[in-house]
Amino acid sequence: DEAAEQATFDALIAAEQRIEPRDWMPEAYRKTLIRQISQHAHSEIIGMQPEGNWITRAPSLKRKAILMAKVQDEAGHGLYLYSAAQTLGITRDEMTEQLIAGKAKYSSIFNYPTPTWADMGAIGWLVDGAAICNQVPLCRASYGPYGRAMVRICKEESFHQRQGFEILLALMQGTPAQRQMAQDAVNRWYWPSLMMFGPPDDESPNSAQSMEWKIKRFSNDELRQRFVGMLVPQAAVLGVTLPDPELRWDEDAQRWHMSEIDWTEFHEVLRGRGPMNAERLRNRRNAHEDGAWVREAAAEYARRQAARAEG
Ligand code: ACO
Repeated sequence: DEAAEQATFDALIAAEQRIEPRDWMPEAYRKTLIRQISQHAHSEIIGMQPEGNWITRAPSLKRKAILMAKVQDEAGHGLYLYSAAQTLGITRDEMTEQLIAGKAKYSSIFNYPTPTWADMGAIGWLVDGAAICNQVPLCRASYGPYGRAMVRICKEESFHQRQGFEILLALMQGTPAQRQMAQDAVNRWYWPSLMMFGPPDDESPNSAQSMEWKIKRFSNDELRQRFVGMLVPQAAVLGVTLPDPELRWDEDAQRWHMSEIDWTEFHEVLRGRGPMNAERLRNRRNAHEDGAWVREAAAEYARRQAARAEG
């Protein structure tokens, strides 16, 4: 009966064991996972666009090869994550439908433009850096398929973060104009990267329950603090300035003191009114429509194979 199932589930969570697709789970746990994993998958897929924008304009063959590999990794991350979500009973078609209809959320960060090459550096350093901070603890998420997908994703994200850092380092060792371009990109991506961690803890409706279920291991603000602590020494090595005059370590509080984040901007982006929301969705929708013939051909091939097997 349900009470016994619930008790088994609670015991597995308490013992740091994994919940697997075959196991009973509360409906709300299933729904939360579908929500988070599908949003995460959509973020990876939409996240291909800001950098895809620079593949044809990368400044050397080597840079182009690296950038192409990175964008392909993001496609792969999206596919593992869609597969993990599918184990919970939602179909890939349903998720795609939600995304292209504009009903699904994906990370706010991918709604900002990439006007210069230095943006490729800032995305790798700041955006992928924030992603790692948020995702390393997700490797221990209580749902097996999600946690396991995260392990490989985090390894690839570490490489992405370093390649971004290295792009910025090369620019910072260049001409004054190149240094300015790097600083300008850091200025534009710093605050949006802090918003990636989500709303402040006292305005995060899902956190308490997700932490109880051991999907999330740290709160949004805890991870944001950890991220800033990681950036400060790296910014010093790069020679860039983090664009927050209030930023300092508060010894008494044992935390980073920082300026107030512009949450109005965050909420505007979530409502679809960020600088690039409309274009990101339009591109995704067009790509889906352009791919219709591939899906039809694959379905037809599968149908014929099945008919042949039946003989
Ligand atoms: N962008 C868009 N939506 C966000 C963001 C953000 N940066 N931060 C929070 N939200 C949304 C949440 O999805 C939630 O929406 P919903 O209830 O309608 O689904 C709402 O704002 C309230 O936030 P929380 O209660 O804090 O939500 P949650 O507990 O899910 O925490 C977080 C948000 C930290 C993003 C979590 O979902 C998570 O860790 N997700 C996995 C990581 C991820 O998706 N990364 C994507 C970017 S990294 C990359 O792709 C390279």
